[in-house]
Amino acid sequence: MCSAVTGDRRTHRPRELPILGSVTTDPSTALSRPTALITGGGTGIGAAIARRLSRDGFDVVVAGRRREKLDEVVADIESAGGSARALVMDVTDPGSVTQGVASLDRCDVVVNNAGGALGVTRVEDGDPEEVEDGDPEEWERMFATNVVGTLRVIQAVLPLLRRSSRATIVDISSIAGERVYEGGAGYVAAKHGTSVVSETLRLELNGENIRVVDIRPGMVHTEEFSLTRLHGDRAAADKVYDGVDRPLVADDVAECVGFVVGLPQHVNIDTMVVKPVAQAAPHKIHRGPIDWKDA
Ligand SMILES: NC(=O)c1ccc[n+]([C@@H]2O[C@H](COP(=O)([O-])OP(=O)(O)OC[C@H]3O[C@@H](n4cnc5c(N)ncnc54)[C@H](OP(=O)(O)O)[C@@H]3O)[C@@H](O)[C@H]2O)c1
Repeated sequence: MCSAVTGDRRTHRPRELPILGSVTTDPSTALSRPTALITGGGTGIGAAIARRLSRDGFDVVVAGRRREKLDEVVADIESAGGSARALVMDVTDPGSVTQGVASLDRCDVVVNNAGGALGVTRVEDGDPEEVEDGDPEEWERMFATNVVGTLRVIQAVLPLLRRSSRATIVDISSIAGERVYEGGAGYVAAKHGTSVVSETLRLELNGENIRVVDIRPGMVHTEEFSLTRLHGDRAAADKVYDGVDRPLVADDVAECVGFVVGLPQHVNIDTMVVKPVAQAAPHKIHRGPIDWKDA
């Protein structure tokens, strides 16, 4: 008999999928609910994705380096009736990733979201770090998190994903992963790397039941992204969003993740580019009001 979770096109209703997640090919996981591992799940986009996937019926594991941030998200999810667990894990540390993933009984969805930028991009925010004066140590850190960290987590979870009927890898790269802009080369290079991991993996896993999705957000106003990028300069971080009428928020990206994950298993959204209306390209941002006509 075909159920919605097996991808029957006539009966599929995406919102119901996770509730049916106990339908699985592996008897050892038959009694548990589907599990989603979200790296960088303690803040911003990762936390919003964790809350969204929890609402969709997943047990979520939120991973990151700061225990207190993870605990806040877990408490939030549990108070809403969901099931979550904090996993202190540094994606740049091989032992930490191996040990962290070994603590999972199952993994149906992994969201590689841990990452970010380091370095000033605009004259208005300080001294832009052009290629000529980019800091190699910061470039290495960005590559270690956004690219090699993604690689490590994928390598560690693949055996678990291979036991799932809902196996999905979601990588959060960026529009920086497809377009270059002045002052951003270090982050742009790293996020191109993230997207290359996604695209290559999709080719290499062809023939297996594992979806690989690359989500490329534009400007998302989160608490920490620009603060980290601008080395803790709060005024400069706030200025990044100055005058931008409705930048994306973390929940917008989480909505995209919920959508791609909730589709029938045979449907793979390869790449999803999501930007605020005010942003036509990484460097082309309208700063001023937009007439939304009450939308
Ligand atoms: N905000 C945007 O405009 C935007 C646009 C496009 C793409 N993105 C991407 O979206 C992702 C989330 O960004 P965000 O805006 O939500 O910023 P954020 O709040 O700074 O998120 C980054 C997360 O990654 C975690 N992290 C960093 N290094 C880590 C490591 N070595 N191991 C494990 N976790 C690590 C951080 O937690 P700990 O410090 O506690 O580990 C944090 O939770 C990033 O990959 C970012 O590049 C953001």
